[in-house]
Amino acid sequence: MPRGPLADGGAIPWSKPPDTVERGPFMDRELKHDVVILGAGLAGLRAAVEISRRLGGRVDIGIVSKVQLMRAHSVCAEGGTAAVLRTDLGDSQELHAWDTVKGSDFLADQDVVRTFVDTIPKEIRQLDHWGIPWTRDAEGYIAQRPFGGHSYPRATLAADKTGFFEMQTLYDQLQRYRTFTRYDEFFVTDILVEGGRFAGLVGLHTGTGETVAIRGKALLIASGGGGTLYGFTTYSQTVTGDGMAMAYRAGLPLEDMEFLQFHPTGLVPNGILMTEACRGEGGYLRNNTGERFMEKYAPKLMELAPRDMVSRAETEEILAGRGFPASDGGHYIELDLTHLGADRINTRLPLIREVTIKFLGLDPIEKPIPIRPVAHYSMGGIETDINGLTRVAGVWAAGEAACVSLHGGNRLGSNSTAECLVWGGITGREIATALPKLGQADLPAARARAAEDRVKAVLARKGGENLYELRRQLRAIMDTNVGVFRNGGDLQKALDTIRDIQRRQANAPVADQSRVYNSNLIHALELENLADLAEVTVAGALARKESRGAHARRDFATRDDANWLKHTLAFHTADGPRLEYKPVTIDMWQPVERKY
Ligand code: FUM
Repeated sequence: MPRGPLADGGAIPWSKPPDTVERGPFMDRELKHDVVILGAGLAGLRAAVEISRRLGGRVDIGIVSKVQLMRAHSVCAEGGTAAVLRTDLGDSQELHAWDTVKGSDFLADQDVVRTFVDTIPKEIRQLDHWGIPWTRDAEGYIAQRPFGGHSYPRATLAADKTGFFEMQTLYDQLQRYRTFTRYDEFFVTDILVEGGRFAGLVGLHTGTGETVAIRGKALLIASGGGGTLYGFTTYSQTVTGDGMAMAYRAGLPLEDMEFLQFHPTGLVPNGILMTEACRGEGGYLRNNTGERFMEKYAPKLMELAPRDMVSRAETEEILAGRGFPASDGGHYIELDLTHLGADRINTRLPLIREVTIKFLGLDPIEKPIPIRPVAHYSMGGIETDINGLTRVAGVWAAGEAACVSLHGGNRLGSNSTAECLVWGGITGREIATALPKLGQADLPAARARAAEDRVKAVLARKGGENLYELRRQLRAIMDTNVGVFRNGGDLQKALDTIRDIQRRQANAPVADQSRVYNSNLIHALELENLADLAEVTVAGALARKESRGAHARRDFATRDDANWLKHTLAFHTADGPRLEYKPVTIDMWQPVERKY
């Protein structure tokens, strides 16, 4: 079986000086695998386990990650994973499906939602058998708590570190198989498609500065979302939408990118996620008059209304002068947990307490937490069918990078780790089944050098622009003009600014000219990806003249099913995205007004 360099157990000489790049450890080896998985978060690991257990020792997988494997952003998932476990107490898959469809503002594909709600309970139980330390209730059942927009407490939890424990459990499982090679700290620059099928990835190993090509018969893109398009965000700074941007440039359409979720509770001033579980455990939101203002916006569900509604309500309160002035010049709302008591906070929300003490010196047992809406999740992504297959033969996508169309216009909290598990499993199954029929496409030598050509071109840039200033401007315009509320004028200004930034990048030199761990170079490559995604997001938002889910336009304030009950598809062209539309699968529930 062909094995990659890290499988040999040899240490990577990552301290090599730059001039030895041409003879690094990846040179003179043919890097080739049956399956290449781009991204080592929940969806990628779940797929690797599924492929391995189906094909045993007969498969060779390369797992490529821009960070160390257990540093994938999935470890930051906090509050829970939605699943119907207690049908004996009245929960049902039909209820979970309805909540998801209504929460999506009727843009979710309903066949996809059915597959999701039917599959996720099995994933939860399977993780249990694999040893995950789910939190238990007093009777020993797997504990679940309320989350926004769910009509039953079905967020399954491991304290407030659910993603971390899920990742660890999956990685432990993967150790049972000798099927995979890790490519940690590889920054992939391009997905190569030859003759309409997947041929390989090219990129840069940041530790040695080598550029490499990794060939494969099948590719799973599971590289996460693109929330660092925004300055105020819950995402790790490493999450820059690279996989989505590469797929887009390789000819795959991005779907529904204008739907970007703002989580209601980002810690002010740094944006760290204050999990929805704070409200699931009983926390309140208050304005500067002490009012629990959600009563005016969602009298039945209050703080546990869906995220789009709570974020809009907080923004309206702040705009009406009922926020608190914040140290960053903005305003905040208070998330009050003080009535929950020390015991509940310490056992169910220990991470929240640790973070607020460490970052603000504030103990939530004693004082309310300052929060406001924060960029959190891309509902859109690479268009796939219900099994995660894209339009290019041999390429699948799963997790946040993908748009299988589960979340539509607004995702319900705790449905995303669930999606990663479900479509990690499904794409793993599909790839394992398809593999015997997939051949290795030819990769012409000139194409295999694409990353080296790209890196050299970026390092050779000259001019008076500052890369970091461009990145700051991109995030600032997204924060101010493409936020919770939007309008045509602001969106047009954002699009003009983004296009200006795209042009100016070519004149932004990379100061550090070395190759080994050159974060300056990586930031330049990331900015290209972020700018492409920003352009697609804003072009889609400008075109969509209605308000639906997380896309709320002041100038088109209502949902318009007659004209806009459809998915946006953005195709890459040299002149910017070309937009097309496709129908939503509606086979259970016709759209109705969303009231909570
Ligand atoms: O609030 C949270 O714990 C986030 C969960 C999610 O985005 O699903």
